[in-house]
Amino acid sequence: MAFPVTRMRRLRHTEALRSLARETRLTPESLVYPMFICPGSGVRKEVRSMPGVSNLSVDEAVKEARETRALGVPAIILFGLPEKKDEVATGAWADDGIVQRAARAIKNEVRDLVIIGDVCLCEYMSHGHCGIVKAGAQSLGAAAAAPPATAEYEIVNDASLELLARTAVSLARAGVDIIAPSDMMDGRVGAIRKALDQAGYLNTPILSYAAKFASGFYGPFREAADSAPQFGDRRSYQMDPANIREAMREIELDIEEGADMIMVKPAMPYLDVIAAARERFDLPLAAYQVSGEYAMIEAAARNQWIDRERVMMESLLCIRRAGASIILTYHAKEAAKLLA
Ligand code: PBG
Repeated sequence: MAFPVTRMRRLRHTEALRSLARETRLTPESLVYPMFICPGSGVRKEVRSMPGVSNLSVDEAVKEARETRALGVPAIILFGLPEKKDEVATGAWADDGIVQRAARAIKNEVRDLVIIGDVCLCEYMSHGHCGIVKAGAQSLGAAAAAPPATAEYEIVNDASLELLARTAVSLARAGVDIIAPSDMMDGRVGAIRKALDQAGYLNTPILSYAAKFASGFYGPFREAADSAPQFGDRRSYQMDPANIREAMREIELDIEEGADMIMVKPAMPYLDVIAAARERFDLPLAAYQVSGEYAMIEAAARNQWIDRERVMMESLLCIRRAGASIILTYHAKEAAKLLA
């Protein structure tokens, strides 16, 4: 029955009516707050391209974690800026690595906060790639004068799996509750599951960055985590933004390998991928509202071109409407405050 019997505006007249008709709700319990851990103590260094987000030393991270929990946000995800980088990502899997130290300290102080450990090598590799680099014709000395052309290096898949598995086990040992591989090597979920099980971490879940696209929206993160590749780009391992069917295959394979939860990343430009994944798979589904998405909102708001709080809440709500049950966002704390 159409107009005039049907009037869609009837249910929009008051906030109470709108609330009854509302299909999607945002709650702090679905948010995850990312944190960047750096060496030193008393350090709180704001990231230039991410106003409001800082590199935090372990002691400051503990404070931040406590505050996050108090706001009703159940989980954080940790990234590390190691003291030293090398060609085997020692800082990623060392038991006294920066994230391992932060995880221990936070677990001690804020017991009921879920700690997610991002498993990747790029922040810990001198070349900034997410796997082991094999040089071709040209050598890749640390101070490689001329960056090699694509044909002259390769990100080696299978050898990288061992380092990723080692990282996962070391993080679990440090008290990390959920292991989240973001490297996009083939077979990493299976390799990590096997290593965790062998080490006795049968109950440590894997949240796989299953459909992670090679995105320009990661720009500010690479400044925050000092993880930009020193040559080339990540297109030989992260996905082509053009592909949604391939994203479904990536997710399916990660589930077969033992992923407990899956993620689509970035979020807002990929809402169709989130919706398709929700439709097709029954695992908890996370979406990562990445650094560039955050930076765009903050920059436009600073110019008074948009209403910051309104756009922030709208983007998070819409990511949930698309089908994500978990949202990783740099706005987690602020959103939780507004939802309280
Ligand atoms: C590590 C990693 C990245 C992000 C999360 N884990 C960067 C990248 O792949 O280059 C991006 C997160 C963000 O932009 O907020 N591989």
